[in-house]
Amino acid sequence: MEFAGAHILSVEQFERSDIERIFDVADTMGPYALREKATRVLEGAILGNMFFEPSTRTRVSFGCAFNLLGGEVRETTGFKSSAIAKGESLYDTARVLSGYSDVICMRHPAEGSVAEFAAASRVPVINGGDGANEHPSQALLDLYTIRKELRGRNRGLDGLRIAMIGDLKYGRTVHSLCRLLCLFNNVHITLVSPAELAMPEFYVELARQAGHKVTISSELTASISNVDIVYSTRIQEERFPTKEEADLYRGRFRLNQAIYTKFCEPNTVIMHPLPRDSRSDANELDNDLNQNPNLAIFRQADNGLLVRMALFAMVLDVVHLVDQYARPVHWFHRRDKI
Ligand code: NCD
Repeated sequence: MEFAGAHILSVEQFERSDIERIFDVADTMGPYALREKATRVLEGAILGNMFFEPSTRTRVSFGCAFNLLGGEVRETTGFKSSAIAKGESLYDTARVLSGYSDVICMRHPAEGSVAEFAAASRVPVINGGDGANEHPSQALLDLYTIRKELRGRNRGLDGLRIAMIGDLKYGRTVHSLCRLLCLFNNVHITLVSPAELAMPEFYVELARQAGHKVTISSELTASISNVDIVYSTRIQEERFPTKEEADLYRGRFRLNQAIYTKFCEPNTVIMHPLPRDSRSDANELDNDLNQNPNLAIFRQADNGLLVRMALFAMVLDVVHLVDQYARPVHWFHRRDKI
């Protein structure tokens, strides 16, 4: 696909070669994300970061990614503080805000809303999550993380074995990830959820059409014993008709060190888009996994910076200029590995 000026709305728009290009660019962002050097390539550019649903990682990492490329961020969070609360349409909001920004990231509770907004926008729009539908940048960073974690283990994206666990009905990250995996070969996807929270048939069918093996289960321990990746998710309680209904499923699939040691192959990678629900009645990924070197959740979140920097550089067509605008960094900074 042509990235310059493009909206990023669904993983549907990517071919495998596009993914490889994004990952190649993301790899080059490491020194900037680690503050080994800085670049001012987007100096003067403005990101409109519009988040109408709770968000920590996605909102802040999109903002930081833009800052790390030298650009400025203007943010609006929640409906109450925006003119949408006064009845303004997505069309009008898009027409107005795209006059103020060079690129817009948007999260909204309604499925399809970000695409509707993008259709009226004069600048590229990146979907930061539209209801239970899609979360394309998360799927990209998830796949980037899987590739990185499995490197050196003689395992890769082709032939991948992954268990997706939890709320597969409302979880937009697993929808996008499942769809993105359709670009690869011979993937075995095990879908673990209560029957009521199963992966929508649409995504199961896409995976099967791609030639993948899809196994559907409601049993955690049997499903995590032969996989490269355990991808756990949170019960998306905000999408349930009532909180009581969400409570029925909370804590159904808990992974802790004892279960991991007993059932998983050595070095199985543990992922989660975060936030993990750490309340005692949920505890999806127990804190006793924190010292497990295969717990990749924070490396996964770190990778979000690299992938989001790559998306901005590509959509604003400055990939070839990033290093040209590089500067040394003078402040003290811990240079932990990403
Ligand atoms: C996810 C989301 O918002 O869909 N979070 C994220 O962006 N990393 C997952 C979740 O909220 O459970």
